[in-house]
Amino acid sequence: MRRKIVAGNWKMNLDYTEGISLFSEIVNMVRDEKNGNQIAVICAPYIHLNSLVQLSAGVVKIGGQNCNQNESGAFTGEISAKMLKSVGCEYVIIGHSERRQYFAETDELLASKTVIALQNNLTPLFCIGETLTERNDGSYFKVLERQLDHGVFTLSAEDFSKIVLAYEPVWAIGTGLTASPEQAQEIHAFIRTKIENKYDINVANNTSILYGGSCNPKNAAELFAQKDIDGGLIGGASLKSRDFVDIVKTFNS
Ligand code: 13P
Repeated sequence: MRRKIVAGNWKMNLDYTEGISLFSEIVNMVRDEKNGNQIAVICAPYIHLNSLVQLSAGVVKIGGQNCNQNESGAFTGEISAKMLKSVGCEYVIIGHSERRQYFAETDELLASKTVIALQNNLTPLFCIGETLTERNDGSYFKVLERQLDHGVFTLSAEDFSKIVLAYEPVWAIGTGLTASPEQAQEIHAFIRTKIENKYDINVANNTSILYGGSCNPKNAAELFAQKDIDGGLIGGASLKSRDFVDIVKTFNS
């Protein structure tokens, strides 16, 4: 059985007080209203992580938004997987398109970040997705294939089974342009077939694949009803407690 996950990505938003306040609301609402085995995760800026873990009471899991590919050392401004783990993080986003675009993170670099995250017992939320140009020129299957081949298909089946994938079409991130449920399902099914071809059917069936890109309480139900969509990676809507928890509750029975 694959895990159903709704993960919020706060990106570079919320000062310390704002983060604590929003997270406290989210924890209370998830505790009172969630009715299912879905997992709620918040991936926050580093300054929040320690406090959020203390406040989470295990109701909401906590993740970082990036980690360095090295274990430790002279990498000013960076954060290690071990540091994230040491404050109680369980997840880390790797390969977000904003990291690929603004910080020139390559597939090969992301593969080494994934390895170090796994070595430190963090669950990578590994993102892939095509740009608008790649969608329009029809090269998107090739792009996704490359991101998978070089980013995560270098892992053993055992290690691959520990990661979560997120399909985030870049053209849908923060634009209000959500992929239609059919468009998203087509890609998720494609990804699952690729996993089956690389590993086997069991690995494919047990991999959680989340959708991200302008996901909100109105469109989540239709997206999550698709057979190969196992939850969401939520940006803007994770900055509003009611919206985020309503998306988490989409999985309530
Ligand atoms: P939005 O939900 O704001 O489109 O962001 C999606 C995202 O990038 C999550 O990682």
